Amino acid sequence: MTAIQTTVVLAMTADGKISAVDPRAPRDSDRADKAHLEYQVSLADLILVGAGTIRAEGTTFVITNPELLAARQIRGQSPQPITCVVSRSLELSLDLPFFQQDVERWIFTTRTALQESSHTEALEKVANLITLGDTDLEWDRGYSIMAERGIRKVVALGGGSLTASLVGAKRIDDWWLTIWPVIYGGEKAPTPVEGEGFIPRSAPHLQLVETRQVNSELFLHYRTLY
Ligand SMILES: NC(=O)c1ccc[n+]([C@@H]2O[C@H](COP(=O)([O-])OP(=O)(O)OC[C@H]3O[C@@H](n4cnc5c(N)ncnc54)[C@H](OP(=O)(O)O)[C@@H]3O)[C@@H](O)[C@H]2O)c1
Repeated sequence: MTAIQTTVVLAMTADGKISAVDPRAPRDSDRADKAHLEYQVSLADLILVGAGTIRAEGTTFVITNPELLAARQIRGQSPQPITCVVSRSLELSLDLPFFQQDVERWIFTTRTALQESSHTEALEKVANLITLGDTDLEWDRGYSIMAERGIRKVVALGGGSLTASLVGAKRIDDWWLTIWPVIYGGEKAPTPVEGEGFIPRSAPHLQLVETRQVNSELFLHYRTLY
C-alpha cells in the first residue's frame, strides 16, 4: 500500500498561539498567509480538521485560485480536497455552514458516538461517517481506510487537539508553521499542539528544511525526525 504523506499547516503568533482566548475572534491571517495556506491545501487529497475548529469557524477552507484549481485537474484530483472532521462526540450542529459547502465531507468518529448521538441519522445524510474504534480513534485504521480510498496526501489544519493526537500517533511527516508578527497572550489561548504534552527525551524533534520571509511574517518548513 502506498504511504500517505501528512503535512501540518498552522499559523501561530510570535508567542505561540493559534487563536486568541476567544476562539471565535477573527485571526490575523494576511494575504501572504492565505496564499500559502491555499497552495498547501491545493496539494491535498484530504484535509483533516478537528471538530473544535469546525465549531469555531463554521466552514472548511475552499480553494478559489483558478491556477491551483487547474493544477488539481491536471493531477486528476477533484476540485476540492475531501474535508474530514475528527470528532469523538459527534457534537456537530447541522446548522454549521460547513454542511452546505460544496465539498465531500467525511467524519472520523467512534462507535460509541454513533450509537449515542441524537443526530447520527441526520449527519449520515450530509457526511460519510467512518468509525475508527469503540471509544478512541485508532489512527492506523484511519490511515488504512484513507489508503484504500486512494488518498495519498493529507494536510492537517489543526487545531491543537487534533495535531496532538496525530503527533502521538507518529503520523506527521512535515510541518509548515507561519509565524504572525503579533502577540495574543492568554493562558487559555490554544497552541499548535495541545494534549498531555511530551517529556523532552521522547518529544518529536524537527529538522528545519526551508524558510521564507514576507515582510515581518515567517514561513517555516520542518521535517519530523522519527
Ligand atoms: N491558527 C491556525 O492555523 C489555526 C488552525 C486551526 C484551528 N485554529 C483555532 O484553534 C482552535 C481550536 O483548537 P482546539 O485544539 O480547541 O480544537 P480542534 O483540535 O480543532 O478540535 C478538538 C476536537 O476535535 C476532536 N478530536 C481531536 N482529536 C481527536 C481524537 N484523537 N479522537 C477523537 N476526537 C478528536 C474532538 O471533538 P469532539 O469534541 O467533537 O469530540 C475534540 O474536542 C479554534 O480557535 C480555531 O480557530 C487555528
